[in-house]
Amino acid sequence: MSLIEPDGGVLVNLIVPEALRGAKIAEAQSLKSVTITEIDVQWVHVLSEGWASPLRGFMREREYLQALHFNCLRLPDGSVVNMSIPIVLAVSTEDKERLAKETAITLRKPSGEPLAILRNPEFYPHRKEERASRSFGTTHPGHPYIEIINASGDWLVGGDLAVLEPITYGDGLDHYRLSPADLRAEFARRGADAVYAFQLRNPIHNGHALLMTDTRERLLQRGYQNPILLLHPLGGWTKPDDVPTHVRMQQHDAVLDEGILDPETTVVAIFPSPMLYAGPTEVQWHAKARLNAGSNFYIVGRDPAGMKHPERLNAKGQSDDLYHPDHGQVVLQMAPGLEKLEILPFKVAAYDKKAGKMAFFDPSRAADFDFISGTQMRAYARNGQAPPDGFMGKKAWQVLVDFYRSA
Ligand code: ADX
Repeated sequence: MSLIEPDGGVLVNLIVPEALRGAKIAEAQSLKSVTITEIDVQWVHVLSEGWASPLRGFMREREYLQALHFNCLRLPDGSVVNMSIPIVLAVSTEDKERLAKETAITLRKPSGEPLAILRNPEFYPHRKEERASRSFGTTHPGHPYIEIINASGDWLVGGDLAVLEPITYGDGLDHYRLSPADLRAEFARRGADAVYAFQLRNPIHNGHALLMTDTRERLLQRGYQNPILLLHPLGGWTKPDDVPTHVRMQQHDAVLDEGILDPETTVVAIFPSPMLYAGPTEVQWHAKARLNAGSNFYIVGRDPAGMKHPERLNAKGQSDDLYHPDHGQVVLQMAPGLEKLEILPFKVAAYDKKAGKMAFFDPSRAADFDFISGTQMRAYARNGQAPPDGFMGKKAWQVLVDFYRSA
């Protein structure tokens, strides 16, 4: 079976071929440069490996406006591909004035090392309020990614990227950072006839596992012989109270070790994108990027890419969800430019006290279910208290206890 085609037909690869590397590094040293942030390096990483295919660099204004207003890009043949979030580079007014006449600029890592060349740069105003309100449905300055946008420069610069070498982090997790091309090769090697992706940024509890094992069952029932799970934790920037990537990777390894998920039919890799917390807008990005990596099925459950509102309380006086918890999956199933990806929506899973395990919520016996929030889970782990039996694998839980007790 051949894997799903990437958006635009060709998987973008912006990394300079090895034979040209010396010359391009020398060129980069000779150009005027701008130093970018850690998060911008992560966006360069995303672009460089083609997760955002057919984008070939930071968005120019016409691409930015399409992403912002249509959540899509129109291709030269008239078709559209999904592109729901702006992938843009902000610079200060000072840098814009210094670099406005250049035909190529070097982007430097925070350490000062040259990272990439940005060709034919196009500067345009960074209208932050408009960007935030359209992407996040709020301009609240307490939203963690809006905080980053507000602290960034007043100009955006788009252009084509040549990335000097593959991006690595030297944090012991690089072997998990498989590019879309690596993943496609791995799915082919395993003879996958279906690939189903699961995006996550939290530790895996048995409710998450239920979504993944249920999907496998459904695909087998539909006649697929060898469905492969792409277990794909996001590994870029996350807000400070999320569990750090290295802890989550240990936790995911424990889940596979304990046999809660089957290592034989699972590929575990890191998705290098930063997190935006843009709910229904961002879930489209999460799905599109996995399509580019060869997935033809995408699992989505409750409140994907969601978070609590920075301020608003619900009727019970508790922190309210920023997004409607069902909208992510409803939007994703209708999203323009994602038609060739099959979305597998799931009901919310919660702890069924009667059955003593995580199960799909049954509103007809709501009192039997406990919703164990992230805050509650952290409190359990910190106090060394065990969560209800069947909530999470024991070894996997221990990883979190060790982390929260040492934090
Ligand atoms: S996300 O930001 O990556 O979406 P998270 O790691 O919490 O956050 O969720 C990963 C996936 O699991 C998403 O598709 C989300 O909708 C789904 N999910 C998380 N918790 C539940 C739950 N209790 N019931 C059903 N789906 C869930």
